[in-house]
Order: sequence, then structure tokens, then C-alpha cells
Amino acid sequence: MRKSKWYLVSVLATVLWPAHGIIAWDSPSSTRESQPAECLSLNESGTLALNESSIADLVIYQIYPRSFKDSTGDGVGDLRGIIEKLDYLQELGVNAIWFSPFFKSPQGDHGYDVSDYYDISPEYGTIADFHELIKEIHARDIKMILDLPLNHTSIEHPWFKESASSKDNPKRDWYIWRDGKKPGGSARPNNWKAIPGGPAWQYYENTDQWVYFHFLPFQPDLNFRNPEVKEMMFNVMRFWLDRGVDGFRLDILHAIYEDKQLRDDSFSWALLPSDKSTASLFKAHKYDLNLPETFDFAMELRGVVDEYQPERLLLGEAFGSVEELRRYYGPENDGLQLVFLFEFTSTAFKPDKYAEIIRRIEKALPPPYTPTYVLSNHDRVRFISRLNNNRDEAKIAATMQLTLRGVPVIYYGEEIGMPNSKFELNTSLDPIGRKYSWVPNLLCKWLGITLTRDGCRTPMQWNDKPNAGFSTSPDVKTWLKVSDTYQNLNVAKESQDPASVLNCYKRLLKLRRDYMVLQSGLLELIESGALKKKCLAYRRIHEKQNVFIYLNFSRDVLKLESPVEKPALLFSTDVNRASLNEGSTDAAFYLGPFEGVIFEEGR
Ligand code: GLC
Repeated sequence: MRKSKWYLVSVLATVLWPAHGIIAWDSPSSTRESQPAECLSLNESGTLALNESSIADLVIYQIYPRSFKDSTGDGVGDLRGIIEKLDYLQELGVNAIWFSPFFKSPQGDHGYDVSDYYDISPEYGTIADFHELIKEIHARDIKMILDLPLNHTSIEHPWFKESASSKDNPKRDWYIWRDGKKPGGSARPNNWKAIPGGPAWQYYENTDQWVYFHFLPFQPDLNFRNPEVKEMMFNVMRFWLDRGVDGFRLDILHAIYEDKQLRDDSFSWALLPSDKSTASLFKAHKYDLNLPETFDFAMELRGVVDEYQPERLLLGEAFGSVEELRRYYGPENDGLQLVFLFEFTSTAFKPDKYAEIIRRIEKALPPPYTPTYVLSNHDRVRFISRLNNNRDEAKIAATMQLTLRGVPVIYYGEEIGMPNSKFELNTSLDPIGRKYSWVPNLLCKWLGITLTRDGCRTPMQWNDKPNAGFSTSPDVKTWLKVSDTYQNLNVAKESQDPASVLNCYKRLLKLRRDYMVLQSGLLELIESGALKKKCLAYRRIHEKQNVFIYLNFSRDVLKLESPVEKPALLFSTDVNRASLNEGSTDAAFYLGPFEGVIFEEGR
């Protein structure tokens, strides 16, 4: 009984943990106001300056290789399949692709458990396919970012097998082995918890010692206090940099170092982690996350990529408050160039909430630091499903994400409004789902949570043919079932519809390319006053160029006031809108329900 109570607590903490994608959310207000609302007023501008960062123009697209395109007909996506779809990505208008890991792996955590960093998992292809892929990517002027799970390996990795074999193996110290508080596997070395819940130690009888893991028991942590381990991982990076890759996404970087003495963690009142703190499950996570050594390590990693020209990118996955995360950028912006900021993935769809986050991010990461904006990824519920599949709201979210100051990271399928699928826990392919397969469906429903990450990883929906055109084989059982929505919701269909989510992304990305101010201009929020619960407004500023973004998060028609005399419309989520306020004698303009507009001062 005590155990099951504990598990319930763990479940809650795990599923609500921002890294693992299961989110309780508010639905948008459904109040309808018939009267146009009052006007907005514009703040005085600050100094005009340019963010000189060389990475500000990036738009990153995340591919989950298992799910993008299957060229062999085995139901699993692969590198050759991705090559077939590069023209699509070029036309979409992204200029960098982050690949979830395709290194050799037993796929216990679908690639986040590497067994050979120098080879490709056979279901995805070969090194020759990789070479072809990078050549084709670069031919389209797109950057290739590899996902590097450097915190841990698989237990299948030869390094771990050697390390586990005996206490005097030369690689013993490559992982974190400790005696238990009592012999015989009856008491762990300390009270640390793994992130998905449960103790962070696995017992190995052959040596009567425990090995530390931050995530799942088959992913033991490497010991970065051992210089050989560091050098080995730097060499892995050099191996891929030598082959032309443009950067790395660094998996759970904040967990690289642990307290040297492995001191017991202290108590925290926090049950659930938040975007402001990593404390959870009544543990402070004081000694296993965001250690000073880890911030220094970010700069060492930068040193490795700086051996290469042109500039190579480091994008860190880390959790903590934005103020804390800033430390990964380095005191002189000489650490990682980018760190994921995940707050949008769990925030209620409310303009004042977003404004608050943007304000905090801008304060913590002013130019030349570059923030990132993420709506969903392979660990989280797809964004549009948090919006009850409201496609107009999804367009507002896209307009916001692609016009803020920072690098947007788009998760595959987001650009067509692909929803999350529902999967049973007891047949979950995601190990987190299986871990919690004992949790009754009804309870999940009642709590409004999802315990498996399978739902956000379904095959890309290319067309309305069997298997959504994902696989060359129409009858093969795809590794995860294609979403039932594919007949109406797919790339082919959306390409034909000017008002589709896909075409909204394309128009926005084109505008971002054409308007440098949208890439690197400063950002200033425009106070929305009485409208702050309905409208988010800001401008981007670069020298004399001003671009204004007004987003209506409500079902109401809003009456607003243009901050410039002759506003020239550059974009509206409503494809039928031709101008901002043509025919009007004053500065007023109207925004339709869930309409977003971008305009500049006309000449
Ligand atoms: C990161 C990855 C996630 C993986 C975990 C362990 O959070 O995004 O998919 O399961 O690390 O590597």
C-alpha cells in the first residue's frame, strides 16, 4: 500500500515533469464578446540595435528518424527516406535539421541509449547513407545537427560491458559505481531519485556494487570526472564534425555531473517540478543537476566545436529557471549558443502568460544571447492537442513562435497540425509508458495526463494513401500506428489549401527570411492594457525598421490602434485579408477571432 502511494506520487511528478511531456493545461477562454474592445497603446521605443549573433537566423526542424519516412518498407523511418523529403523541408523554409539519435542502439529508449557512437543503427541505414544525407542537406543550404546523448550510454555499449565486468577493469571508473550503504544489494549508496521516478541506482551482484543512472536503469551515466571519458566524448564529437555536421543537440546536459561525494539529496516541498525549479518528488535535486562543473563543461564543449570553421552550433537540453539556464551560455556568451527554453510547452494558451514568459526570457537573455522557442518535441504532448486541435489557435502559436526574438524549433508534423495519438500503456513502446503500465486508464483520464510518449511520435502524414505515404509498403505494420486523422490531415492535402496550417508556416518562414528584422531585430512588448487577456502585441526593431505583431488569442473581434500612421500589412493568418485598415480615416484596425497580423510602416 505504501509502495503504491509512492508510485502515484512518482507518476504525477514524472508525467508533469516538463522533460517528459505530459502536461496539464488550461483550455482557452470561450467567452464571446460582441463589442469591439478598446485600443492598445504603444510604448516608446528603446535604443535601436542589432543582435549580431550569427545564429539568430536559424529555424530548426526536429526529425524523429523512426517516424519521418520509411524507404525500405519495414515500417520504420530511415535516412534514405529522409533524403527523399529534403525538398519538402527546403520548400517549407527551415535552414537546420536536428535529428533525434540514429547511432547504433538497442532502441530501449529509441536511440537515447547508444551502443556505438561511431555507427548508424541498421534500421536507419549505413554510414554511406549518412554521407549521402549530409551531402544532400548541405546542397540545400540546410545545417545538420546531430543529437548527442552524452550523459549515458546503453548497458549494451562495450564500454559498459567492460566496466561492469569487474572492479579492476580499466574502464571501471568510466561509469559511477559505488558500494551500497550495506552489502548484498540491500541498501543503495544514497537517496537519489531517477528523473522518471524510482531510485537512481541499479545493483550488480557480480561486484556487489551499484551503478548510477539519471534516467532509466539501462542508461548508466558516464563518469565525466574521469578525463578519459571526457576525451573519448570530445573525440566522438570530432569524428562527426570531421564528417561535416554543423552542430549537436546535447541530451540532458544538466545531468552530466553529480556531487563528488554523492551526498544525500535534501528534502523539498516540491511534488512537481516547474519551469522555475528542478526540485521534484520531495527532493531538491541539489547534487545531481546543474552543478557548477556542468556549466564549466558547456564552455569546454564550445572549445571543441570552436576547433572548426565555420561556426558549429551547440544546443543544450537542460532544465531549470531561465536565469539558471543562462549560465550554460557562458559568462561571455562563450558556452552553448543555444539552450532549449520549454516554457511554451506547458503554458496555458493565454497572451498574458506568454507575455510574462517572453519578458522574463528577454531579461535573462538580452542580446547578444539568443533564446529558443519550442512548442513541442518527441517527449511532449503535441502542441495542437493541447489546443483541442483548434487550427486557428495553432496558427496564432506559429505566428508567435516564428516572430519572437530567438531560434524557433519546429517538431516534425507541427507544421501540418498533426495531433497526438492515444496509445494503451500496457502495449506502450515508450519505456516510460511501460514503466507506468499499471496505472489505470481511467485515472489518467481523470488527471488529464498522458503517460506514454508514443502519442507524439507517430509516422509523418504525407498523403491520404495507406500508411499516410509514410512507408513504401502500404500494408506493413508501421512501428507506431499512423494517426487515424491522416486521410484529412496530410502534407499533400494541406499543400493545396492556401488557408492550411502548412501554408501559414510557409508564409511565415518566407517573411522571416525576407525581413532581417524578424531574425535579429530587438523585441519590445507592446503593453496591451485592458486587452492583455486577449491580445499579445510586440514589435521587432532593427535600426529604422519596425515590424509589429498583433495576435488575437480570443474569439472576439478586437478593435486596436495602429502605432504607425500608414500601416502596411505583411501577413495575416487570414489569407483573405488584404490590408490592415484600408478605408479607415483613423488609426483603428480590427482583428478577427484568432487572427494574427504582421505589419510595418508604409512608405
Ligand atoms: C532526453 C530525451 C528523451 C530521452 C532522455 C534520456 O530528455 O529528449 O527522449 O528519453 O533524454 O536520454
